[in-house]
Amino acid sequence: MIKYHTFDNIPLEMHKVRIVQKLNLIPIEDRLDAITKAGNNTFLLENNDVFLDMLTDSGVNAMSDKQLSAMMIADDAYAGSETYYRLENKVREIFGLEYFLPAHQGRACENVLSITYVKEGDLVPMNYHFTTTKSHITNNGGEVVEFLVEEGLNLNSDAPFKGNMDLEKLEAFLNVNHKSVPFVRMEAGTNLIGGQPFSLDNAKKLRKLCDKFNLKIVLDASLLADNLYFIKMRECKNKTIREITRELASQFDIIYFSARKLGFAKGGGISFKHKEDYERCKGLIPLYEGFLTYGGMSVKEMEAITIGLDETMDLDIISQGPIFIKYMVDELQKHSVPVVTPAGGLGCHLDVSKFLPHIPQTEYPSGCLASALYLISGVRGMERGTMSEQRNPDGTEKLADMELLRLALPRRVFTMSQIKYTVDRIVWLYKNRNLVGGLKFVEEPKILRFFYGRLEPTTDWQTKLFNKFKEDFEDSL
Ligand code: F0G
Repeated sequence: MIKYHTFDNIPLEMHKVRIVQKLNLIPIEDRLDAITKAGNNTFLLENNDVFLDMLTDSGVNAMSDKQLSAMMIADDAYAGSETYYRLENKVREIFGLEYFLPAHQGRACENVLSITYVKEGDLVPMNYHFTTTKSHITNNGGEVVEFLVEEGLNLNSDAPFKGNMDLEKLEAFLNVNHKSVPFVRMEAGTNLIGGQPFSLDNAKKLRKLCDKFNLKIVLDASLLADNLYFIKMRECKNKTIREITRELASQFDIIYFSARKLGFAKGGGISFKHKEDYERCKGLIPLYEGFLTYGGMSVKEMEAITIGLDETMDLDIISQGPIFIKYMVDELQKHSVPVVTPAGGLGCHLDVSKFLPHIPQTEYPSGCLASALYLISGVRGMERGTMSEQRNPDGTEKLADMELLRLALPRRVFTMSQIKYTVDRIVWLYKNRNLVGGLKFVEEPKILRFFYGRLEPTTDWQTKLFNKFKEDFEDSL
């Protein structure tokens, strides 16, 4: 962070803008129509109706000039493309793991790993689940068991590594169940608890514990860039990002990633320490993904990932997300808006149980806030609460541990004034929070319902919110 003479600390962009995309801010009347048509599910909004798209950081990070220029020289071949070998070598160089398989995105890696290792009755311990991970594991008959440290679920803790595994609890579990465990999974920049990191120390201790039971550890490195930044700032000031990455990666047997996040492009891949694991998974790539030298990715994207992975080793580049998120979190806190602290990676997370305490979890408060925020600002966030859970096998609701609205900041995409606009509208909404009401499903898919389920308001609360907006902002959009 740069120190200023005249201002308080504000994040400084370490890049300049060279290509821009025009944005639309449609009037609130049209936004009401759009969110109604989308069944109050921000996933179903058309991007043209969205002003600032904070749905996700997946596949929408800004690319660098170097990435774009590398895309022009991609070697287009079905088999044996030079581009592929550049990617494979880069992954090997960065992680230090010998074997690599390409896949078209993160969940494709999860599919391959779950089919290969998870069978009926298996238990898969992890720091915390991710939606697609859990679906793949349960689809193959396994069950996810979480061992997140206690502070991980405390939305307002100062703990620097809320994504850590509780090793004592895990050990007690493994003493009894290790025979049913195909692997232990660790997620970097733990997504669903607010992009919170784990420490290098925790990973090293996990390695020792798993060695005791002769168990494999799998790292989901999709959000590794943010996690590396936090390890550097909070734990290993004297090590370079490259050194930290190598040391961290050496604790794992398998590392997979969504290159829609890690590598600022689109794609994915799995690295293996041991040849036998690579051989076990290899056959599924041509079956589900594509030939072994592209795995469902375009050669252009593979070139972009190769450069993007190198850029991930640059602190000036990977700091941009976290310092903007921290700024947004600090500004919201100044106005008493409940947010997850400490600020993590990925995005700013609003603590919806405190924002909308009057809405029961069975009426999806995080979904209500996502819908309300879009209506009054054109900002699209993502529900990360009960709607994102799968129902229990008996059909009852699985209430989420935490109700969050995620406002993702795709890397290097938004400007400071766009962040300030978003803060302004959230603060207004917080002052008018009592106007926000519940939602109920009118179409509810069985698997991953949050992606394409449709809901409607339980009362006429949207009209009331609309009227208040008109009263306070008059002709403003
Ligand atoms: N693991 C983590 C930690 C993720 O955040 C994601 C995707 C995946 C795996 C799956 O990767 O999308 O390439 O198939 N997260 C996106 C998000 C969807 O918006 O947080 P994918």
